[in-house]
Amino acid sequence: MAEVSTSILTVKQEDAIKTFYDLETAGTTYFHIDIMDGKFVPKNTEEMMYEYSSTIKQISNLPLDVHLMVEDVRDNIEKYIPLTPHIITIHYEACKDDDEVFELLGYIKDNNIKAGISIKPGTEAEKIKKFLPHVYLVLVMTVEPGLGGQKLMPSTVEKVRELKEYIDKEGLDTYIEVDGGVNLETVHLVKEAGAEILVAGSAIIDAKDFKEMIGELAK
Ligand code: DX5
Ligand code: ZN
Repeated sequence: MAEVSTSILTVKQEDAIKTFYDLETAGTTYFHIDIMDGKFVPKNTEEMMYEYSSTIKQISNLPLDVHLMVEDVRDNIEKYIPLTPHIITIHYEACKDDDEVFELLGYIKDNNIKAGISIKPGTEAEKIKKFLPHVYLVLVMTVEPGLGGQKLMPSTVEKVRELKEYIDKEGLDTYIEVDGGVNLETVHLVKEAGAEILVAGSAIIDAKDFKEMIGELAK
């Protein structure tokens, strides 16, 4: 069984509270929070995601899986610490060098939050192997970050496989999470390649029955 992290990026404001309740009842493992700053990616979701995260903290005990698609990584980590997310994932591409990556991962972990590192489709797996012993998960973007509802890029599945082989060979306990275009047609590809945590936005939010969809993706 895989874990499912539901991206609430496309949840409408007027349905938000009911949708969060329904997702919890339906059995999502995490709420996936997509924070975009209008710089690292064109869209800006900062205000909406902070509001949604605060609402979830008030009505649910489910863990938050925070995905930072931002240039000012440290400021955003600082902003989310009080909401006690389970995981904060930063982008390798948002850091100026490896030292900065290590420093930011350390900052997350010093606050008793699990740290993740993410790579965009154009970044080679090789670049982040050195961080894998120091993170809870690696988030492989299976679409170009920035928007929900895109198609999974098949080339990224090979990256999942390469990372899984490396993790097993080194005997690490790092999880692989995938994000973007995960639905009933593509889920078997990423699972077979080694993904253990599945982010899904539109596949779940647009489904008639959340519980059935989450169950199908996880099984
Ligand atoms: C893309 C985000 C994803 C995305 C997932 O930048 O990181 O979390 O919203 O949405 P779907 O599942 O619709 O591709
Ligand atoms: Zn995401």
